[in-house]
Amino acid sequence: MDSKRSQLSLRRLRQNPAIRELVREHCVTVEQLIQPYFVVDGISKREAIPGLTGTWRDTPDSLLKQIEADLEAGVRKVLLFGVPSEKKTSGFSHSFTSKQIAAIKKRFGSDVFVSVDVCLCSATSHGQCGILTAEGDHVENASTVAELARAATEYAQAGADCVAPSDMMDGRIAAIRASLDNAGLDGTLVMSYSAKFHSKFYGPFRVAADSAPKGGTSLKDRATYQIDPGSPRDALASSLRDAEEGADILMVKPGLPYLDVLADLSRQIRKPWAVYEVSGEFAAIELMAQQGLIHGPAAHLESWTAFVRAGASMIVTYGARSAKTWLELKS
Ligand code: PBG
Repeated sequence: MDSKRSQLSLRRLRQNPAIRELVREHCVTVEQLIQPYFVVDGISKREAIPGLTGTWRDTPDSLLKQIEADLEAGVRKVLLFGVPSEKKTSGFSHSFTSKQIAAIKKRFGSDVFVSVDVCLCSATSHGQCGILTAEGDHVENASTVAELARAATEYAQAGADCVAPSDMMDGRIAAIRASLDNAGLDGTLVMSYSAKFHSKFYGPFRVAADSAPKGGTSLKDRATYQIDPGSPRDALASSLRDAEEGADILMVKPGLPYLDVLADLSRQIRKPWAVYEVSGEFAAIELMAQQGLIHGPAAHLESWTAFVRAGASMIVTYGARSAKTWLELKS
């Protein structure tokens, strides 16, 4: 055989930006990104979050100002975390978060797509994601699910476009869907954190949301409800179940450490997939960039590209509001 013709040149398609742009298979756009917001009851000024550059613990006022600024940056998809000041073990009020949803909708209407995290960890005095049994050593499934369905329905009534349960109880998607439908809210989307792992990468978030497990119980962590990092089979079962129960969007969380799971599940279950680039992943890049070890914007884009390559159609990331600027740096 002619040795010249058998020489495969892969570098021909890499030789300049124009060609690379044309042959690229996966691109990230700002439209795919969802920006998380923390709105905190009882603080007078917004507060920075260690590790999460450019994200804040907002007051109700600063939240609206930030959303306005973000609209300018092309970001119109919100994932809201409400942090009430009153911590309890039962009899929760969801009104603080509901009020913020109503305020966003009143001000911005359909310019902003509002999704809201549904969980109890920011509202419980012990920091667990649900209601404990009398012995305090277990999160009770049925009472927690009923409370989550109440919260989700209140949020939807306040105007949320999408509710996103992140608690990992059994049967919560069916309960939330039924409760929404009963209230005539059949247009509200349910985005399930269906493949949420028991991860150490949630550290900065738990400071922001005041949601770390705190004691007052023998439960030290969330291992009895979040998925074990070594059990992708469990993530498949959980996602199949949540799809069956009526979830519109499924999610893998964290992102990069579970990229194999995202690639696998998004091929097996043909639903829209979200991925959450969680606080610890985001902060790792930021901290390396601050040390001059890495180019932060390019590293963030590389991670997002990996998510899209692995099958995500949307990405929850603390970098959404910087994405437009970062994407312009790309070559
Ligand atoms: C609430 C919740 C968590 C995150 C989103 N919703 C933390 C947890 O399970 O402890 C993590 C998000 C992040 O780290 O950015 N249960």
